[in-house]
Amino acid sequence: MSEDFSVVVVGSCMTDLVSQAPRFPKAGETIHGHRFFIGFGGKGANQCVQAARMGAKTAMVCKVGRDVFGNDYIQNFKNNGISTAYVEQTEKAATGAASIIVNDTGENAIVIVAGANLLLGQEELQRAQSAIISANVLVCQLEISPDASLQALKMARDNHVKTIFNPAPAIAYMDSDFYKASDVFCCNESEAEMLTGLSVTSVEDANQVGLELLNKGCASVIVTLGSQGCVVCQSTNKTPKHIPTIEVTAADTTGAGDSFIGALAFYMAHYPTIPLEEMARRANLVAAVSVQTVGTQTSFPFRKDLPTELF
Ligand code: RIB
Repeated sequence: MSEDFSVVVVGSCMTDLVSQAPRFPKAGETIHGHRFFIGFGGKGANQCVQAARMGAKTAMVCKVGRDVFGNDYIQNFKNNGISTAYVEQTEKAATGAASIIVNDTGENAIVIVAGANLLLGQEELQRAQSAIISANVLVCQLEISPDASLQALKMARDNHVKTIFNPAPAIAYMDSDFYKASDVFCCNESEAEMLTGLSVTSVEDANQVGLELLNKGCASVIVTLGSQGCVVCQSTNKTPKHIPTIEVTAADTTGAGDSFIGALAFYMAHYPTIPLEEMARRANLVAAVSVQTVGTQTSFPFRKDLPTELF
């Protein structure tokens, strides 16, 4: 018998190796950066950490290497109150790593080497099954094998667990079952472009791609738009709704989408009756806090730091 968790994330852990530099280098160019630091990242783990910091009872289903980064990551989950009952270690691959450059306007460019994340498969999901099927919300992304993500989503859906799928990083040929297995399909502009072939440079474009993605079979779609907030489309009401956000000065946007999704998972699990648009409005505000400080998880707010109107 497993404990019941409100939010379970099946996904990735990465050690973030972050260089802050005035701008991104061109191909073949070397430039000076002004700061380097190592942090905890990976889209799955980031989303789980944000949900936990909002107050969700969380479990992470993931695989790290049997190495110093993997050991440190397990301690990081414990420090954030996240269950590590389904965090496994392997000797066959290193803990995932992300090389990140953040420029002076807070934008980022990321290369991931997923390593141990890609060894999370059917056997690990079977061991975590009781937690997945009894959760309120399951969250998946694409930094682990797509087969494992899809299997987890289907396992949850078959057991009436609400699902959030974040197709990040986007892949050109994605199994169409991902759409059908998503209660909320949440992507950013570039992921939406990759999946639909339509460019997204405005709220109107996001409305259009949102509807296009909705027509592929998701119950609802959220397209995040950075400083412009997000667009929400639902199959129950096919009119896209733009949810703007507050204006802030961005120091580092790395992980802002993960902060949004972690907060959304918290709201879906703990306030299931509020409208999705309102959940998205609140998640926008949580993500807006995260961009104002450098770092990924280090910038994610705790419940005590957020306005009470968000709860
Ligand atoms: O979404 C941000 C995350 O993407 C980083 O933490 C990095 O690890 C990559 O997975």
